[in-house]
Amino acid sequence: MSAWDVIREELEKKSVFRGKESLTPEFLPEKLPHREEQLRELVAMFKHLAISPGSFSQKVLLVGSVGTGKTVTARIFGRDFTRVLLRHGLSVKYVHINCHRNRQLYNIVLDIARQMNIPLPNRGLSAWEMYLAILNHLDEANSYAIVALDEFDYFARISGKDAVYFLVRTYDEYADMIKRINFIFITRDPSNLSLLDSATESYLLRHIIKLSPYTSRELLDILKYRAGQAFYEGVVEEDAIKYIAELEGYDRGGRGNARFALELLMLAGEIADKEGSPKVSVEHVRKAVTTLSPDIINVSDAIYYLPLHELLLLWAIVRLLKRTKMSYVSMGDAEAEYITLCESIGEQPRRHTQVYEYAMNLKRASIIDTKTSGKGQRGRTTLLSIKYGPLDALEKLIEDLVAKKRGELS
Ligand SMILES: Nc1ncnc2c1ncn2[C@@H]1O[C@H](COP(=O)(O)OP(=O)(O)OP(=O)(O)O)[C@@H](O)[C@H]1O
Ligand SMILES: [Mg+2]
Repeated sequence: MSAWDVIREELEKKSVFRGKESLTPEFLPEKLPHREEQLRELVAMFKHLAISPGSFSQKVLLVGSVGTGKTVTARIFGRDFTRVLLRHGLSVKYVHINCHRNRQLYNIVLDIARQMNIPLPNRGLSAWEMYLAILNHLDEANSYAIVALDEFDYFARISGKDAVYFLVRTYDEYADMIKRINFIFITRDPSNLSLLDSATESYLLRHIIKLSPYTSRELLDILKYRAGQAFYEGVVEEDAIKYIAELEGYDRGGRGNARFALELLMLAGEIADKEGSPKVSVEHVRKAVTTLSPDIINVSDAIYYLPLHELLLLWAIVRLLKRTKMSYVSMGDAEAEYITLCESIGEQPRRHTQVYEYAMNLKRASIIDTKTSGKGQRGRTTLLSIKYGPLDALEKLIEDLVAKKRGELS
């Protein structure tokens, strides 16, 4: 077949998908089945913005295990709450900060300013000056803000308590200031609250909204709704959706993770397309199950936003673990492998202290585990490990991301 024909054939190939992008994690659906209660709780906690704006600065904690809809619930609340208030002539901005992407105070403040379209001078401002500019801007525009710190624990672990304190305790010493900034803290694990100062911690414990893992019944509704948007009508067999819902439903021994359920559905659709099948069946889901690793999906967000050299160090660790078939590798070996890897792809390797810092960042993001070896001949060494897998799938993900990041940088 000529290249021309191959291209034509691929372009004309029928797909089961009507809009595949609606299944990606960034997509915001119109409805949120089974999260109405949490939406109501959020509205109740931010009601002061409608009735007595500026009276106080609210802080709310959103907790739930992986894929329970924390991010999407916060984003949709932010999108629609601010729209409703605008109808009443109140200007409230919603800002969603992904702390995997922005883990330094400076970058977080910069992102808040950007998302609020606040013009900043070209000369480098400090985090504090930028924060003042944001507060001033809100004053001048007579508007308010809700800032969601998604996976805030990552930010707190890397930048420290003081950095979080800087953001959230703004008004503590100024009783009569108009309180314009409010916060939503998002985390998978409430024990992360200990990363905050004790006043914020105890406040948040009293303003907590919990998202439970989804049951199979709930997942069924969610999958049906999302499949209706992503696929042509009648393409996904009812049994295929049921299969996923029962596999992942918390009441059936699954994790209740909607992210995993939706990824499975998308992958099953892609497999159906590849096979030229007009329907998505249970068999396609079964095939999808064998290739998708729930453990890797858990960390995929964290990995996605890693800076290039942290990603390269992670890749080096994966390669070593695969090659040595050991459960741990030493920091020294990992660094040597990292240098070889950098050289083989034409990247300048970073210095030793920097590489050590990368390893600590990977640990803080729960992407790797570390321990110190018992005293050996050369004293104590740090040992690195990855407690999930399969490593082949992880390596594939890293390889794709490295290629993507290097493409963006050049
Ligand atoms: N009730 C729901 N209705 C429709 N889609 C949902 C619902 N809950 C979750 N989703 C979808 O499931 C996926 C995972 O949700 P989300 O990213 O909000 O989970 P999360 O709790 O933030 O997970 P993580 O801890 O991994 O960050 C997203 O694509 C989201 O749109
Ligand atoms: Mg999330």
